[in-house]
Amino acid sequence: MALQRTFSILKPDVTRRSLTGAVNAKIEAAGLRIVAQKRVLMTRREAETFYAVHKERPFFGELVEFMTSGPVVVQVLEGEDAIQRYRDVMGATNPEKAAAGTIRKEFAVSMGENSVHGSDAPETAAVEIAQFFSGNEIVG
Ligand code: RTP
Ligand code: MG
Repeated sequence: MALQRTFSILKPDVTRRSLTGAVNAKIEAAGLRIVAQKRVLMTRREAETFYAVHKERPFFGELVEFMTSGPVVVQVLEGEDAIQRYRDVMGATNPEKAAAGTIRKEFAVSMGENSVHGSDAPETAAVEIAQFFSGNEIVG
């Protein structure tokens, strides 16, 4: 597997509880390099665009509300098989079902406030990275 990049968000429940460093330590311990990172307050429009794939789902409104409720940290992670590797360290969407040692098992509050986002495929990773970063902001 070649070097790959994925897009990550540390969600508002992480910044609110000052867990940015703790989550980043897990990311780095998993062999992923943080090659771009910034703390931003997502606008409603940005959150709606980002999660457009879920717009018909019953939790969409709540999701957009949460993602705009406080600062998030957007990141580009790089490593071998980075997309799957990050999904593995994130753990299951529902923290009650997440494996021991995963970010969501250790830090998530609930299914909605589940601490992290990670891209699910190379195509979505490319689109998501481009939504938040220009090329010269990513330094591998
Ligand atoms: P993400 O996109 O944030 O990395 O999470 P994921 O792939 O594990 O989960 P996905 O199915 O893409 O859902 C996106 C986010 O929506 C919230 N959600 N809430 N209340 C619910 O039933 C529900 N289902 C999903 C979660 O915050 C999830 O991460
Ligand atoms: Mg997803």
